[in-house]
Amino acid sequence: MGINLLTLCYLIASVTFILGLKMLSHPASARKGNLIAAGGMIIAIIGTIFLYKDNGQKLHNHEWIFGGIFIGGVVGVLSARKVKMTAMPEMVSLFNGMGGACAALISIVEFNHLYKSAGFTIYTPLSALGDTTIVEISKSHLLIIILGLIIGSISLAGSVIAWGKLNGKIKDFIFKGQHIFNLIILAIIILTAAYFLYTSPSHSEIKFSGIHLLSIPFISKTSLYLLFAILGLALAYGIFFVLPIGGADMPVVISLLNSFTGVAAACGGFLYDNKAMLTGGILVGAAGTLLTILMCKAMNRSLKNVLIGSFGASAATSAAKQQQGAYKEISISDAAMVMSYAHKVMIVPGYGLAVAQAQHACHELEKLLTEKNVEVKYAIHPVAGRMPGHMNVLLAEADVSYDNLLEMEQANEEFPSTDVVLVLGANDVVNPAAKTDPSSPIYGMPILDVELAKICIVNKRSMKPGYAGIENDLFFQPKTSMLFGDAKKVLQDLISEIKNL
Ligand code: TAP
Repeated sequence: MGINLLTLCYLIASVTFILGLKMLSHPASARKGNLIAAGGMIIAIIGTIFLYKDNGQKLHNHEWIFGGIFIGGVVGVLSARKVKMTAMPEMVSLFNGMGGACAALISIVEFNHLYKSAGFTIYTPLSALGDTTIVEISKSHLLIIILGLIIGSISLAGSVIAWGKLNGKIKDFIFKGQHIFNLIILAIIILTAAYFLYTSPSHSEIKFSGIHLLSIPFISKTSLYLLFAILGLALAYGIFFVLPIGGADMPVVISLLNSFTGVAAACGGFLYDNKAMLTGGILVGAAGTLLTILMCKAMNRSLKNVLIGSFGASAATSAAKQQQGAYKEISISDAAMVMSYAHKVMIVPGYGLAVAQAQHACHELEKLLTEKNVEVKYAIHPVAGRMPGHMNVLLAEADVSYDNLLEMEQANEEFPSTDVVLVLGANDVVNPAAKTDPSSPIYGMPILDVELAKICIVNKRSMKPGYAGIENDLFFQPKTSMLFGDAKKVLQDLISEIKNL
């Protein structure tokens, strides 16, 4: 009965994961979807703690389990409440690394468990025949242990490096032949793992007075050392894999590492025959892989190019110094006037809007213009900001209606009929070099065609480049006027100016 109830818990949890994931695909239902999936996870955890039986025994070390849940829960809630929207990708990366660490720890603990249980049998009279530890273990079991260890460790080390790079604590690090070096580490990991699998569960013939008694698998100390060597190599690979990747490609890397963590967690599900863990891991693995592919598509780059192209790093050095012509500026009062008398205004939010925390002011401007019968819409680029869906989340926080948010393709269709485009702290996502300059590192990335509108007003604080580190020709085009200043301050000034018109 207990097992059946537990299976039911896992089934409910799996269904909620799928439902939750589906609901995450739309901003209006995302919050609810997250709560539903979290509810399913609670059911799976409670079920495991009280109903799971290992060799007929229920889990007993409740104080450790609940202690861990309490500490982890408090840390999770506090950091999620405190984190700034702009630092969200860093937190996602760090938490993803924790998932990888868990998967790697599960592998180590499980191997240790086997190794220890083997140790007991060594004290049987037969052990006098040799230094043989005895345990019944299948190769597939060991394969899953080693896969969880490798993938989880790569995800842990890579995520920590990604976290450091996103918050500026770790700089890009590239040396000549780095990609070959990485491939060599990967090859050594695979070979060591193959050797580990080949040698570990070999059959030991135990003889007594020359008579063959039985043939049983064993784990030797060498296997233990090999396991820790694989751990060290996988951690090193995770570090060197992420270190050379440029900042602008970080979201793709984080998403890829996220899918690694999912696969590593699924390995844990296999080890413990835990269906909820298995479903959850596979869903995270599949969703992460799809998101990686979608983001590569949004930037028009192959995954290989992202992983070995060092895009952001080389972009900053190669293209930052292009010489451009003169740009013109617009005053707050002129900008207010132009927008107030427009039929249609399209706002293009970018990373700068998030930095300035100007989403509420932005919504206020939208309401004000709408009251003046101006049609106001938002053009959302898939990689605007610093995380997938960054702009949607930001604008949702300020209660901007989802109906006013246009996806890139839709927005591009509407730019020719737009009177004024107001670019707020966006740069790379409106850089025409992506369409016109084959030598540009962002060449091929689909962008918002803001230059098709009648007037383009760009708000940022200076002429400094955006994330990819390259100049933006848009700022020097005849239709463009620069409106310098912090986005929040500029929006507040625009609002008071429009109110006085
Ligand atoms: P960016 O190209 O990074 O440009 C943001 C601009 O905002 C900067 O040029 C900056 O110029 C301006 N800015 C900063 N603080 C401001 C403030 N307080 N007020 C007004 N302006 C401010 O942003 P984007 O156009 O959104 O493009 C996103 C880039 O990040 C892409 O290259 C993308 O690949 C990359 N990326 C995306 C993600 C995801 S998944 N969304 C994650 C990581 C990286 P000033 O300094 O002159 O003000």
